Amino acid sequence: MSLPSDKNPFELFAAWYGEAQGCGLKEPSAVTLATADAEGRPSARMVLLKSADRAGFVFYTNRESRKGRQMQANPFAALCFHWMPLVRQVRVEGRVEPVSDAEADAYFATRARDSQIGAWASKQSQPLEGRFELERRIAKYALKFGVGTVPRPDFWSGYCLIPERIEFWQQGFARLHDRLVYHRAGDGWTTERLFP
Ligand SMILES: Cc1cc2nc3c(=O)[nH]c(=O)nc-3n(C[C@H](O)[C@H](O)[C@H](O)COP(=O)(O)O)c2cc1C
Repeated sequence: MSLPSDKNPFELFAAWYGEAQGCGLKEPSAVTLATADAEGRPSARMVLLKSADRAGFVFYTNRESRKGRQMQANPFAALCFHWMPLVRQVRVEGRVEPVSDAEADAYFATRARDSQIGAWASKQSQPLEGRFELERRIAKYALKFGVGTVPRPDFWSGYCLIPERIEFWQQGFARLHDRLVYHRAGDGWTTERLFP
C-alpha cells in the first residue's frame, strides 16, 4: 500500500486515527510520550491523547510529575502511536506548550468526579510511603470537595505538542514498509519518503 503525500498531515492523521478508533482497540488514544531532562536524558511513558488538530496533539498530566518537570526544563517531546491491528505507527515530534487555563478547565470539568479527586490526591511521580497515604489523601479531598464542582488543581493541566515532524509508517510485504515524513516548512509542509 502506498501512502498519499498530497494530504496535509493533520488530514492523514485524522483518517488513520478514525480507523484506529474503529479497529477494535480498547485504547486507540494510548500513545508513548518521550521527554528528556535538561541534560537530554530521555524517558518515556504512556499517556492518552485528548485531541489532535492543526494546533497540535494534546494530552493531560500533573505538571509537577517527572514528565512535567522535564517539559519545563526542555520543552520538546515526541509521541509514538502503534495501532497493531492496522500495522501502523505514527511518530510526532516538536515543541510542547501548556494549554490555556480555560481549555484545561473545560476538559477537567468533563472528567469523572473520582478522577478529579484523584488529580488532587496524587503527587504524581513523588515517593509514596504506602497505599494508605494515597487513600488518606483521597479521603481528604473527597471531604474537602464534598459538594459542588471540583475545581481543577493548578498543577494539573494539558500540554500541546506542536509538530515539526510527523512520520506515518505502514507495514509492507517482506519488511518493505512505507514511510512518509512531513516536515513543517513555514505555513506548510514538505514530504519525503524514507527507506524502511
Ligand atoms: C495506557 C496508559 C495511559 C496513561 N495515560 C496517562 C495520561 O493521560 N496522563 C498521565 O499523566 N499519565 C498517564 N498514564 C500513566 C503514565 O504512563 C505514567 O505512569 C505517569 O504519568 C507518571 O509518569 P512520569 O513519572 O514520567 O511523569 C497512563 C498509563 C497507561 C499505561
